Amino acid sequence: MSSVSSPGGVLLLGATGRTGSRVLTQLLERGVPVCTIVRSAERLPAGVAQDPRLTVVEAEVAAMPVVDLQSHIAGRDALISCLGHTVSLRGVFGPPRDLVGDAVRRVCRAIESLRPATPTRLILMSSVSVNRPARADTRRGVGERSFLWVLRAVVPPARDNQRAADVLALEVGTDAAFVEWVVVRPDTLVDGEVSAYATHEGIVASLFRPATTRMANVAHFMAELVTDAAMWRRWRGKMPVVVDDVTDRPGRGSASAGRSG
Ligand SMILES: NC(=O)c1ccc[n+]([C@@H]2O[C@H](COP(=O)([O-])OP(=O)(O)OC[C@H]3O[C@@H](n4cnc5c(N)ncnc54)[C@H](OP(=O)(O)O)[C@@H]3O)[C@@H](O)[C@H]2O)c1
Repeated sequence: MSSVSSPGGVLLLGATGRTGSRVLTQLLERGVPVCTIVRSAERLPAGVAQDPRLTVVEAEVAAMPVVDLQSHIAGRDALISCLGHTVSLRGVFGPPRDLVGDAVRRVCRAIESLRPATPTRLILMSSVSVNRPARADTRRGVGERSFLWVLRAVVPPARDNQRAADVLALEVGTDAAFVEWVVVRPDTLVDGEVSAYATHEGIVASLFRPATTRMANVAHFMAELVTDAAMWRRWRGKMPVVVDDVTDRPGRGSASAGRSG
């Protein structure tokens, strides 16, 4: 499973969220040191606070001075953003409307100004509602694209998610000297333990007949990207879609977790 260690560890944003908390737990279970910037340490998952590999910084990442951000990024092997807008009227329509995109842009600038000797890996939690550039998601027809266009016009988090991915795909690109990235696109998030799942280059299900993705599987895939060099080489500069393997039945276990489709 883990072919490389991560001595510099990971800076994790969104560790108090539904998916981010699972990412945090799985990274610590693998022995990866984690630094996390959270608004409130009280919302971290139970039991992690005593872990000596965990460093918690209580701060608003959007308001953090760039020198502070740089100090938390310096020497890290990887950064993960599981940020997302709170599901409430204020969270969806109030500020900051560009929470994720702004964080990604600030983090990229901080990495670039640090000029690390080897590229820092950045993993962005995104969504199947996010398009790859140049209409590469050929499975997505005119109807779905029109629906998403309207969605982004009226629902700020949908626009934010697309912009955050565009920062990496269109502004940073795939041959940047200091940043490498993977944009992880799960389908409808559901609870459950790690199970068999598949990773695909492009969209596999219609927005109107969505697949499911266990948050534990998203976390597992992200942890694999951090700890498995071959996995990183396979997906860097790409926007993999992660979906549960529905052929996985109770009792089959999760031996096939992470199958590439
Ligand atoms: N729902 C789905 O089915 C689905 C499917 C695919 C992708 N996604 C995307 O996946 C991402 C993560 O989803 P999730 O459900 O795991 O997220 P979540 O549980 O809503 O967690 C969001 C995280 O972002 C933080 N956050 C929110 N507003 C913030 C702010 N203003 N400043 C700093 N931190 C802030 C939260 O911190 P606090 O604890 O302090 O609030 C929390 O750690 C989102 O971008 C979402 O759009 C969702």
